[in-house]
Amino acid sequence: MNATKNKLVIVGTGHVGSAVLNCALSFNFVSEIAVIDIISEKAQGEALDSTHSIPFSTGTNVNIHAGTFEECKDARVIIIAAGPSILPGEIPDRLTLAGRNVEVMKDVMTSITQYTKDAVIIMITNPLDIMVYYAQNFFGYPKNKIFGTGTTLETARFRSILANKYKVDPKNIHGYMLGEHGNSAFPAWSLVNIAGVPYNQLDNYFQPDESLDLEKTAASVISVAYDVLNLKGCTNSGIAMAACHLARAVLFNERSIFPVSTTLQGEYGLNHVALSLPCLITEEGIERRIEVSLSDEEIKKLQHSCQSISTVMKSVGL
Ligand code: 2OP
Repeated sequence: MNATKNKLVIVGTGHVGSAVLNCALSFNFVSEIAVIDIISEKAQGEALDSTHSIPFSTGTNVNIHAGTFEECKDARVIIIAAGPSILPGEIPDRLTLAGRNVEVMKDVMTSITQYTKDAVIIMITNPLDIMVYYAQNFFGYPKNKIFGTGTTLETARFRSILANKYKVDPKNIHGYMLGEHGNSAFPAWSLVNIAGVPYNQLDNYFQPDESLDLEKTAASVISVAYDVLNLKGCTNSGIAMAACHLARAVLFNERSIFPVSTTLQGEYGLNHVALSLPCLITEEGIERRIEVSLSDEEIKKLQHSCQSISTVMKSVGL
């Protein structure tokens, strides 16, 4: 491995990439951050602006600078946030970005692989699962070293919704949203619990104002992303935090389990598609995918996610 230092590269400095930069600085987990953007002035501006936050930092100093893809040669982690996002007023479906962002990803992955196949790549670009599948399967990069933020973000939204309902710390809501990072993501209710109390007994234990409506809760997790998009024009805080938690799991070899997106290899009878399932993350990327036991209804939802993504993949020639 060429990486001799804790170096993070962020590809793309739009709303999301710049939020990742801020978040990464607050985590203080790397000694160097390089930012790359197709508009090099934007990357330079973000790097310069962030440099001015360092004198206020209570952590160790970080060398922040803009650069080219050559920066990847000694990176430990590369976070890809390149390419357009959906805008307020557009069709509320990340899958509509597939055509445009496959082209972006072709350039990004071709450039990265000129310099490294060692760094762990964390994908954010949408449609996330299609970008992960493309990056993992078409560029000769080690598959375990690429994964997408996936339903880590939906899981955070789910935890936050249930935390408000039951008035407990969101960190005490256990369980996952699985499947597509997008409209067909679903809560794996059979795994959800608070302090070991299963989802179907939560109302008795925690006595919320309104009883738990499974479908309404699942729908809110999906729609709240569009609420943020319509209210502020983009979503960036939650996803930046998700990406930085994943990066930290890699940098510190935390062996954390997150629902990240990866190409399935026969799990639940599914292949040739990337989706989120709980995965064990180490310094080498994904060490293990955990084929958790799901109910028949949940497996149907996973199959539905797979179909939605596969249809769009075919339409863009994947
Ligand atoms: C999000 O869920 C748009 O994928 C982005 O916030």
